[in-house]
Amino acid sequence: MKIMLAPMEGVVDHRMRDILTAIGGYHSCVSEFVRITDQPLPTKVFHRISPELNSAGLTPAGTPVVVQLLGSHPETVATNADKAVGLGAPGIDINFGCPSRLVNRKSGWAVLLKDPTQLYAIIKTVRCAVAAHIPVTAKLRLGYENTDLAVDNALAVQAAGADAITVHARTQADGYKSPARWEWLAHINESTDIPVVANGDINSVEDYLRCRQISGCDDVMIGRGAVARPDLARQIKCQQQGIDYEPMGWNEIRPLLLQMG
Ligand SMILES: Cc1cc2nc3c(=O)[nH]c(=O)nc-3n(C[C@H](O)[C@H](O)[C@H](O)COP(=O)(O)O)c2cc1C
Repeated sequence: MKIMLAPMEGVVDHRMRDILTAIGGYHSCVSEFVRITDQPLPTKVFHRISPELNSAGLTPAGTPVVVQLLGSHPETVATNADKAVGLGAPGIDINFGCPSRLVNRKSGWAVLLKDPTQLYAIIKTVRCAVAAHIPVTAKLRLGYENTDLAVDNALAVQAAGADAITVHARTQADGYKSPARWEWLAHINESTDIPVVANGDINSVEDYLRCRQISGCDDVMIGRGAVARPDLARQIKCQQQGIDYEPMGWNEIRPLLLQMG
């Protein structure tokens, strides 16, 4: 029953990860994406996105920060994955769900959701490039225009050797429209053998409980709800453990925001 902190470009950087993981409840975080083009990136790019690489890939509270890569050429993504691991990344996540129009124009990323064989090729090449003890995961949406390939994509990623899949329960066309389609997570979860991490619209303890019930997924990833409620993961952990917990009030949250500068 793990709770992950979602990658959010421009919102969850290393300072936010520090604050949120210090409050507690998170099993791990995923970094903002490192955009892969056609060559190995310099070390400083990885350190800019994940300064935690200077501390064994851990936040000051000791929570692992998986490095996320975004790219469409299997070999270049794999070379950079190997480099990130060499720099200390405790895991590699491949982003197949970036909704940015600019990014997709370059025939990459969420567009890849239209072609399970491409997802397979990227994950397989990355899996072969990095040491077996380093988890390789994928972050998917339910599809591009529709959900027709939702299960096929998940199966492709599993067949390629991914250790887990995070599924943001929306298509690219859905954007960020609510409600997220948790019932689709159940189809994917039932069709695969690797852990499926549920993501999308988990903004309260009640959402968490309903999402788990509908999706059947044990593990969840929290995005915007983590920023709106900095102690959401702690609230969920306390609920899981049957501990009474008074959610943080504004007086406790305000100094944390000031810490962000
Ligand atoms: C501002 C913003 C930036 C995001 N950046 C990334 C990213 O870098 N990589 C990624 O895989 N997903 C990214 N996402 C998607 C989130 O990780 C998550 O899948 C999505 O927000 C749904 O979860 P939520 O409803 O809990 O927010 C981003 C979302 C937002 C709102």
